[in-house]
Amino acid sequence: MAGICFILNGTETVYDGSPTDRLMDVLRNTYRLTSVKCGCAEGECGACAVLIDGILLNSCCVAMGTVQGKSITTLEGYRETERFAVLDKAFGELAAVQCGFCTAGMIMATEALLSKNPHPNEKEIRDGLAGNACRCTGYNAIVRAIQKASQEGEGLW
Ligand code: FES
Ligand code: FES
Repeated sequence: MAGICFILNGTETVYDGSPTDRLMDVLRNTYRLTSVKCGCAEGECGACAVLIDGILLNSCCVAMGTVQGKSITTLEGYRETERFAVLDKAFGELAAVQCGFCTAGMIMATEALLSKNPHPNEKEIRDGLAGNACRCTGYNAIVRAIQKASQEGEGLW
């Protein structure tokens, strides 16, 4: 049986396991992309969020059979971009990271938001993060960090 072919962080990849395997488990266990976290495993927390063809999706709710021909980006791949450098600086300066469990999903959600709307207002930011839970920061620091990044990253998104 032919494997499932997809692009993973820019690299052509073939997965030989079952099409019913969960993308979250495959990313973590097969490809060791441990930025992808298992929070709830039922699509509620966003800790496992990745970009699939640029769209934010919770990888715990995605079966491997559906990623054939798609391009998947996790934080490990996104980390190589200029956009990430701007977000990293803003999140660090504004203390938008505490325990860090939610952070990779937050960053991927932020990328999805800014790529559609480079200058979101506060409500648009909160709406964009609606699927991502954070137990530590109270969200305000994250919102401020995204506002700062959208200013300092002018022209990148
Ligand atoms: S682990 Fe996927 S949404 Fe919570
Ligand atoms: S920083 Fe701890 S859950 Fe968000």
